[in-house]
Amino acid sequence: MNTTPATTVEAVVTDFNVVTGLSKSKAPLQRRLSAMAEMYADQEAATAQLTKEDVLVYEFFDMGVPSTSGDVAYGTSITYPGKVGDEYHMTKGHFHEVLDTAEIYYCLSGRGYMLMENPEGDWQAAEFTPGQAVYVPRRYAHRSINVSDTEPLVTFFAFPGHAGHDYGTIETKGFRKLCVESDGKPEFIDNPRWQA
Ligand SMILES: [Fe+2]
Repeated sequence: MNTTPATTVEAVVTDFNVVTGLSKSKAPLQRRLSAMAEMYADQEAATAQLTKEDVLVYEFFDMGVPSTSGDVAYGTSITYPGKVGDEYHMTKGHFHEVLDTAEIYYCLSGRGYMLMENPEGDWQAAEFTPGQAVYVPRRYAHRSINVSDTEPLVTFFAFPGHAGHDYGTIETKGFRKLCVESDGKPEFIDNPRWQA
C-alpha cells in the first residue's frame, strides 16, 4: 500500500450513468456466481445454477486513487437481480482492513439493503431506495443485497483511500444473517453456516 502522499496528483474526471451506474471510460470488475458460489446458503441451488449459466452477480468500478488517508476512493456498484435458492443476489461483502474507517453509499436506482455487522456482534440492515444515502459506520462489514426481481441495484460509494479491503474474514465466517425471500418479501434470518 502506498502511504506517501504524492505532491502532484492528476485530477480525475470519470463518467457514471446515474441510472445504470456504468462508466464509458473505465472497465468494471465483475463477479460471477462461480467466484462466490460457496457464499450462498443453498449449495444445491448454486451448483444447479452454475450448470446452466455462470451469471454475472455484480460489478463495480475501482478508480484506482492513491491509498492514502487523505484520498477518497469512490465508484459505483451494480448488483443484478436474481436469487440462489431463496437467497437474493448480493456482493461478497467485506470489512475494511483499517477497521476504523467508514463508507458512504448513495442509491441511484433499484431496491435493496445494505447488510452490516461488526466484530462485537451487532448487525443492521439499512434499506436502499433511489435518492437515499446509507452511512456504513466504521468497524462494520458491509454487503449490498438486491431484492428486486427485475431491476439492478445501483449505488455510488466513497471511502477513505487507506481503508483497504478484508474479504477473507467474510469468505471464511460468512455474515450472521442471510436475506431470503419469504412469502414474496425479503426477510433476514440467521445464517446456519455462520462461524463464530
Ligand atoms: Fe467498503
